[in-house]
Amino acid sequence: MKIRIAVQKTGRLNEDSIQILKDCGISIDNGKDQLRALSRNFPLEVFYLRNGDIPQYLRDGVVDVAIIGENVLIEKGEDIPIAERLGFSKCKVSLAVPKSIQYNSVRDFEGKRIATSYPNTVRNYLEKHGVKADLHIINGSVEIAPNIGLADAICDIVSSGSTLFKNNLKEVEVMLTSEAVLAVSPKISTERKELLDKLQFRIQSVLRARQ
Ligand code: PRP
Ligand code: MG
Repeated sequence: MKIRIAVQKTGRLNEDSIQILKDCGISIDNGKDQLRALSRNFPLEVFYLRNGDIPQYLRDGVVDVAIIGENVLIEKGEDIPIAERLGFSKCKVSLAVPKSIQYNSVRDFEGKRIATSYPNTVRNYLEKHGVKADLHIINGSVEIAPNIGLADAICDIVSSGSTLFKNNLKEVEVMLTSEAVLAVSPKISTERKELLDKLQFRIQSVLRARQ
């Protein structure tokens, strides 16, 4: 019996996710090209997956737990429970407009075209404020959209802020703040839940030591 954990294959969370497992004393045999790896000293199997696919894998019970950005769960997996906040990969999900625009309030987005990879997050936020906008869903390089006339504004992750800056955009609304979390499949079995408890115990000591 092994606990199956999903981590991001490539991207911002990948390295820190592997690192926290290492800090837990869990060594993983892998080349990164391999999409699946085993631990030598803990009953754990790692799956390297695309971020956006992870909520569905958890929902289906194909993996038991995942290290994932809370922002992805909010966008695609609100039904999936969080066992632990992990304190790394902190970011915001924000709305941004061209620097030259004079911005007053969220009402300014009424009738505007917004490019984003986070349609549910934006829709919920705007609905809460009674604003209707036109969403254009794109999967990456979102910040280019206003410069090429595809949209009036964007919504994306902001970490250092350098992507916004380089594209002459300014952050005007922070919709949410996020960090890496340990998310659990609603279908996890009792035996694997016991392994999860062991893993979580180790993670908690690592997090305490990091403070
Ligand atoms: C992410 C995100 C933002 C940027 C934020 O993009 O989509 O564009 O990082 O980080 P920053 O505030 O530190 O600049 P990424 O580089 O991962 O590429 P992608 O959007 O094409 O997936
Ligand atoms: Mg980007």
